[in-house]
Amino acid sequence: MLLAQISDLHLDGTERATERARRTMAYLRRLPIDALLVTGDIADTGSPAEYEEAAALFDLPFPVLHCPGNHDARPAYRKGLLNEAASDAPVNSAHRVGDALILMIDASIPGEDPGFLAPETLSWLDEQLAAADGPALLAFHQPPVKVGHPIPDGSTLQNAADLDRILDNHPHVAAILTGHAHTAAATTYHGRPLIVSPAVTWTLRLPFEGEGLADLDADPAVAFHLLDGDQLITHFRIVR
Ligand SMILES: [Fe+2]
Ligand SMILES: [Fe+2]
Repeated sequence: MLLAQISDLHLDGTERATERARRTMAYLRRLPIDALLVTGDIADTGSPAEYEEAAALFDLPFPVLHCPGNHDARPAYRKGLLNEAASDAPVNSAHRVGDALILMIDASIPGEDPGFLAPETLSWLDEQLAAADGPALLAFHQPPVKVGHPIPDGSTLQNAADLDRILDNHPHVAAILTGHAHTAAATTYHGRPLIVSPAVTWTLRLPFEGEGLADLDADPAVAFHLLDGDQLITHFRIVR
């Protein structure tokens, strides 16, 4: 199974954001991808026009599974991307791809940057995972760990202990996939692979790389995940 992951498009109506997103979709469109996962910060301000653009970009020959980030706004997200009535409830969705269960999880707190798994999201996660026995992937926006830069490290997932309990209760969770940090990164979390997707919009400069938060010249990048049983192998590619 071939999954692709992108994150942090930050569509803001500018030609720059549009060009980078279009370039990424043109690159992905020609590949035999089983599903594309988009881990949040799809919009930059959360306006209806930004989701209108996202919906057009996500018109691809494979399923596009997505979840919100701290720059997204649930009501406009629901209307623009899901054709649902505007609502402030978390935007969680479950998907079967092959024998895998992919859970796109809303870890956003409306109006705030850190992540949080709301009580209703945690009970939904428990139910979904209890009902499936194949490998499961959890995808959400804010990493549950620090990545080595004070900006993303100031807005990690706040209730990681609740995530730990979910992972303890459901050993078939094969990996955790996040975004938010704008840097391709890999570690383990609670015994599972934790992959942080690169961003489409700009790349985080780590403190040892010098001054300035954002490398605006770095090309967009994507992660490809091969899931073999419960083993995840990730390859990163730059989109030129
Ligand atoms: Fe972002
Ligand atoms: Fe973010």
